[in-house]
Amino acid sequence: MIRIGLLGFGTVGSATYEILAEQEASLRDCLGQDITVEKILVRDLAKYETTAAYPLMTTDIAEIINDPSINVLIELTGSIEGIIEPLKQGLASGKHLITANKALLAKHMEELIALASRHNVGLRYEATVAGAIPIISNLEEIIALNQVNSLSGVLNGTCNYLLSRMEEGLDYAEALREAQDLGFSEADPSSDVEGYDTMYKLRILSTLAFKRPVLESEISCTGITGVTGAEIQEALAAGKRIKLVGQATLVDGKVTATVQPTLVDRCSTLGGLDGGENAVIVDTSNAGELIFSGLGAGGRPTAFAVLSDLIHLFARPMGS
Ligand code: HSE
Repeated sequence: MIRIGLLGFGTVGSATYEILAEQEASLRDCLGQDITVEKILVRDLAKYETTAAYPLMTTDIAEIINDPSINVLIELTGSIEGIIEPLKQGLASGKHLITANKALLAKHMEELIALASRHNVGLRYEATVAGAIPIISNLEEIIALNQVNSLSGVLNGTCNYLLSRMEEGLDYAEALREAQDLGFSEADPSSDVEGYDTMYKLRILSTLAFKRPVLESEISCTGITGVTGAEIQEALAAGKRIKLVGQATLVDGKVTATVQPTLVDRCSTLGGLDGGENAVIVDTSNAGELIFSGLGAGGRPTAFAVLSDLIHLFARPMGS
């Protein structure tokens, strides 16, 4: 039986809980065993008194980490300092870990991967990059059969939404409010608009794709706060759009990586993205250019990625 400790019950946590309940029968069918959420970590119990999941909730993470019946942690808190040690304890005690926490993974990726491997448990992180797009699981397959030459993409739904709405004449503050209402933005949206969120994602993707640590400190990063309405309109008039693009290239064994506002043709893959959409383009040695696109942010798209990790951890082989 899969017994989940759900850490965090915000936009993605609550969507994950809902999809688990709604898709219970088909998930059980796919995984060949029952799935239950045993406990849920929240910051403020009082906020959830009227929700159905309230009896499962606790503010004490030790109750979850020390519960031997819980075999999977799903970490959706968005914090780093308060959570890293308990997560490490969880891995060391044999619990699988699924996380959507890109800032945490960007900081501790090598350490967590090594720890999971040492304790023979799974560490899955599909939801850390590009929302619903199954880029991590596809990259795992790609790198087994190819060298990745480069990857580039629009990796932040908030920025893409903002830039799209500003093309329609909305001012920056109003467009940001909308992105927050849609559940796209981080709790502190400066991580989105300053480019850090894209940088974390590029760090994670590049490290996987190029099979070597590509650290945040190696990525030059400029966000969209300096992009003006006039520049956006000027780009449109020239048949182009401004997108926040993350790009990493392998040349002579060295990875060069940047995050920056970039002019792209309207009719290109990245130029065609609207609202909260993301895309990742991967140039490979054998499979050529591969393009992945879809919704890059929001509760349900991200929860889908989280639960796809559960499938990767536990799915029965096809046909069994
Ligand atoms: N704030 C992020 C974004 C959420 O806007 O893309 C998904 O990672």
